[in-house]
Amino acid sequence: MHRTRASYLVFLLALCLPSAVFAASDSTTLIVGADRRASISLNGDWHYIVDPYNNGLYDFRMKERTDGYFLNEKPGPTQKLVEYDFSKSPTLKVPGDWNSQSPQLYFYEGTVWYEKDFQYQPKPHTRTFLRIGAANYISHAWVNGNKACDHEGGFTPFDCEVTSLVRDGNNFVVIYVNNQRTRDGAPTLNTDWWNYGGLTREVSLIETPEVFVDDYSLQLQRGDAGVIAGFVHMSGGREGAQVSVRIPGLGLDQTAPTDAQGRALFTLKSTSLVRWSPQNPKLYDVEIAAGEDRLHDEIGFRTIEAQGDNILLNGKPVFLRGVSIHAEAPYRSGRAWSDADAQTLLGWAKELGANFARLAHYPHDERMTRLADRMGLMVWSEVPVYWMIEWDNPATLANATNQLREMILRDRNKASVVLWSVANETPNTPARLTFLRSLIDTAHTLDSTRPVTAALLVTTLPDAADGTRTKVLDDPLGAYLDVLGCNEYIGWYEGAPDLASRTKWQSKYNKPLIMSEFGGDAKAGLHGAPSERWTEEYQEAIYRQQVAMLKQIPFLRGLSPWILMDFRSPRRDLPGIQDYYNRKGLISDQGQKKKAFFVLQEYYNSLAASAK
Ligand code: GCU
Repeated sequence: MHRTRASYLVFLLALCLPSAVFAASDSTTLIVGADRRASISLNGDWHYIVDPYNNGLYDFRMKERTDGYFLNEKPGPTQKLVEYDFSKSPTLKVPGDWNSQSPQLYFYEGTVWYEKDFQYQPKPHTRTFLRIGAANYISHAWVNGNKACDHEGGFTPFDCEVTSLVRDGNNFVVIYVNNQRTRDGAPTLNTDWWNYGGLTREVSLIETPEVFVDDYSLQLQRGDAGVIAGFVHMSGGREGAQVSVRIPGLGLDQTAPTDAQGRALFTLKSTSLVRWSPQNPKLYDVEIAAGEDRLHDEIGFRTIEAQGDNILLNGKPVFLRGVSIHAEAPYRSGRAWSDADAQTLLGWAKELGANFARLAHYPHDERMTRLADRMGLMVWSEVPVYWMIEWDNPATLANATNQLREMILRDRNKASVVLWSVANETPNTPARLTFLRSLIDTAHTLDSTRPVTAALLVTTLPDAADGTRTKVLDDPLGAYLDVLGCNEYIGWYEGAPDLASRTKWQSKYNKPLIMSEFGGDAKAGLHGAPSERWTEEYQEAIYRQQVAMLKQIPFLRGLSPWILMDFRSPRRDLPGIQDYYNRKGLISDQGQKKKAFFVLQEYYNSLAASAK
């Protein structure tokens, strides 16, 4: 084929266009409480095609194809040229990232097409949704060759209505996933974690009545009145439809009509309510009924608020004994998603003596917050607005806002979640302040019952003549946060461990502080003098010095040291020590507890004993 030079350049340009250019507007919805509904699992083996040139999405003449891989065609006797065949392609397990399932895909960043055949019998008066627990990072879904939805964001669920696309008998679903990092993304080009791509959480079909409950929020109101207030929203409902909320454990049963927006308001008062707490993580069965729809959720009722420089849980000051956690699968590595992963990670946090976990740097699998509800662990949940985001890009703000919205809708009925975080270690610029103030407003609007925080950086003043170092929390974003987070690495990135003993802390704000990161790397099993970096003894020295310093901070109300377990990162390639792992874990990726684990455990057990 003859190509002019111009068309050849255009052709080359087409190959590097990020799929975001073609990612149509986000055409998904999010069904709150979906994990409580009966579902038809599509987990298991999916055929896949690695497509680094997006060959299956556009024609080299830069048009979106009308005959792309989403049609799932097969080569055959017809004249039509078909150069792919899912049925003869290899398979990946879903849920699961592709990087940890195939050596050829370990570093791969690009497009992978997934395909699965499934049997289905459409039911009368029933709506059908394709639910994707998470797809990192951009995804497009088709059912039986017809577009179902598009989504951007690698860590939140989305639902695509496929009622008109499924048919009786044989069906197939094709999902395009591209994990290329993009300048305008959230996160952006640089992160200190592995860019695990793929259908990293469960995929299923959910069936609902034609009119069903798609959103609700039931929260204990602040104060002592024992009042649960909130709403239930019906999708497809008419004004005046009756909705009922029953909480048998409290003898509560209330019916209310929907308004013109499909929302029914509730105020339920109980004198016998047992509040959720780490000591007693009481969950109540809540039944929501609306027309033909019945939904059972398990909800804990508690209050959480910042008051002065205190955090109040159920009206009483609480200290958050925490640890940061990445969604890295213990032992096998890869993106964590299973009950076993959640049990191991949160079990280790409990063993540490924690009552709190910072799920960094993105919303984790819903199993983590469900289990935290049951185990009595408070949770800091955050969106991946991490480092050098494109602060002046409206599309980036819209994307970050949507991810924040999806995180809050999914988890705002989970008592364990006590903080929403809108950012991690972001530069102090006017554009960033505007961007993050918008996210803070969105979080407060979607959920007025939880404080909003962010992990900030801190100002270091010039050392005093006697060597004393002063840190000042004066980030202008602090004026708009309810709780301040702060990351510092005294003893690892800043000075030797004993610098902590000469460091004082001040805050410009009368607000609670959570030290949201500190620590240092250690290779499990590597021992030496406490002055030797990378040894367990050096990490242990950091923790001993940090704990002594933290005890001196009068407005400190919690900590979530970095980090519970070693995790994969492309930034950490020191051979024999890191080998593409960030080794700041208190526990290795193989479950070996390092000496620093026991330093923190001793501190937390002493705090717990004195809190009784
Ligand atoms: C930063 C960042 C983490 C990172 C850590 C480190 O504070 O928030 O994501 O892993 O430092 O350097 O280990």
